[in-house]
Amino acid sequence: MTATPSPMRAILQRTPVMPILTLHEAQWAGDLAQALVRGGITVFEVVMRTPQSVAALRAMREATPEAWIGMGTLMTAEDVHTAIQAGAKFGVSPGLTPELAAAIAATAFPFLPGVATASEVMQARAWGLKELKYFPAQGAVGAGWIKDMSGVFPDVLFCPTGGIRPPDIPAYLKLPNCCTVGGSWVVPAELLKDRDWVGITALAQQASAFATP
Ligand code: 3PG
Repeated sequence: MTATPSPMRAILQRTPVMPILTLHEAQWAGDLAQALVRGGITVFEVVMRTPQSVAALRAMREATPEAWIGMGTLMTAEDVHTAIQAGAKFGVSPGLTPELAAAIAATAFPFLPGVATASEVMQARAWGLKELKYFPAQGAVGAGWIKDMSGVFPDVLFCPTGGIRPPDIPAYLKLPNCCTVGGSWVVPAELLKDRDWVGITALAQQASAFATP
């Protein structure tokens, strides 16, 4: 019998690439979300690093109710509550603190905290978190690290982010403990500035094609 995946795992299993979006203008966020969905990408993360990030996430939700939109760079319990109130379907963090873990444990909010060492994986697992962002991926050991973790933590699914570009992706996605990589390359700042939705849809198509062997 196949066990039902956790909500966070089920979200990751929906996409081979999760665009990571830094949005300075909420005004165009709905158009951007539609451009991504047209390209076959229905899971993406808006980072909470700009004043417009919450408004952008709300606009994206309205424009693409079928998408799974998460909020990233959550650092505190307050950030978790802000993301939930904004309607994010999951949260992402570059790391994990006891404050953040306790806030998540008090909710049913799917969560992807960051790790970069075996000790951090153990701490996250102790909080029941088994879908983990490996960050920074390319700046550290890369796909080799995720491969090495598979024997020790066979129950953990990793989503690497940080410096990953299209040529790097196959090495990650061939691993049994990695079905999604995150990255900002799907929405380059230049294309966003020019509101080049056709160009962004083309990159989303390139990203979604990684699902097909
Ligand atoms: C992030 O959280 O911002 C990511 O790790 C983005 O990395 P990238 O811009 O190198 O894709």
